[in-house]
Amino acid sequence: MPSNVKDLFSLQGEVAIVTGGAQGLGEQMSIALGEAGAQVVVADLNLEKAQKVASHIQSLGVDSLALCVDVTKKGEVGEMVEKTLERFGKIDILVTSAGVGQWMKAEEMPEEDWKKVLDVNLNGVFLCCQAVGREMIKRKKGSIINISSMSGLVVNTPQAQSHYNSSKAGVIMLTKSLASEWAPYNIRVNTIAPGYMETQLVGDLLKEYPDYADLWKKLTPFGRLGNPEEIKGPCVFLASPASSYVTGSVLVMDGGYTIW
Ligand SMILES: NC(=O)c1ccc[n+]([C@@H]2O[C@H](COP(=O)([O-])OP(=O)(O)OC[C@H]3O[C@@H](n4cnc5c(N)ncnc54)[C@H](O)[C@@H]3O)[C@@H](O)[C@H]2O)c1
Repeated sequence: MPSNVKDLFSLQGEVAIVTGGAQGLGEQMSIALGEAGAQVVVADLNLEKAQKVASHIQSLGVDSLALCVDVTKKGEVGEMVEKTLERFGKIDILVTSAGVGQWMKAEEMPEEDWKKVLDVNLNGVFLCCQAVGREMIKRKKGSIINISSMSGLVVNTPQAQSHYNSSKAGVIMLTKSLASEWAPYNIRVNTIAPGYMETQLVGDLLKEYPDYADLWKKLTPFGRLGNPEEIKGPCVFLASPASSYVTGSVLVMDGGYTIW
């Protein structure tokens, strides 16, 4: 266990998988882990974008592999683990950032939409944690970072998104449950709960209701949305020995939204 602060935040020699790593928060976290010295598997539905992120990470001087993975498919998640082990021999870090958002009133929501959001945002996180966790248990070492949301702690307004909020609350409790079960194996499981971040997910939702951004800013003590790069620090902190005694925690990074 290093004592020098620079070494505490180093991920030299570590191997990480980032789901949803092709864009948005996942892209920033993939780059952050690479900058800290980790070899990174960028796993996403969108292989072309994942390859661009992997190329960027390789330009930093660490190896990186892009994989096409649907986190809702158990078989594909299993292959992701196998291919990572084939290339790098181990998995030290898992970041689950793959997620989808949608606004829809509960009374109008088709069952398929409810199931789709829960499937990607909660079931997908479970499948990835389970498959990677099994490998981490063998080595008695690992750090898992699930990306939940402040929507798992408070209900956003004015948009209706009961399925999204429920999925993210589920990720928070899944994180705590796994932290409890896997502490004996020296596996830390934490979650980052972001507030409104300026990514494509939010941009696409705002297309229909551009006025919401101003309202959200008024509801946020910092008075602005988050820059996707602002998740790099929290991610490296939770991935690295700098957070060696931190498990089951919810790191809220929301510009203060949930204070009010
Ligand atoms: N942007 C925000 O304001 C915000 C706030 C809180 C939480 N989050 C969460 O952060 C995570 C990342 O969000 P983002 O804003 O970067 O979104 P984004 O849409 O920019 O990126 C999401 C990525 O996940 C991938 N993906 C979607 N479904 C997938 C699947 N089934 N299998 C594999 N990959 C899949 C997409 O291809 C995309 O590359 C999500 O879980 C989201 O819910 C985002």
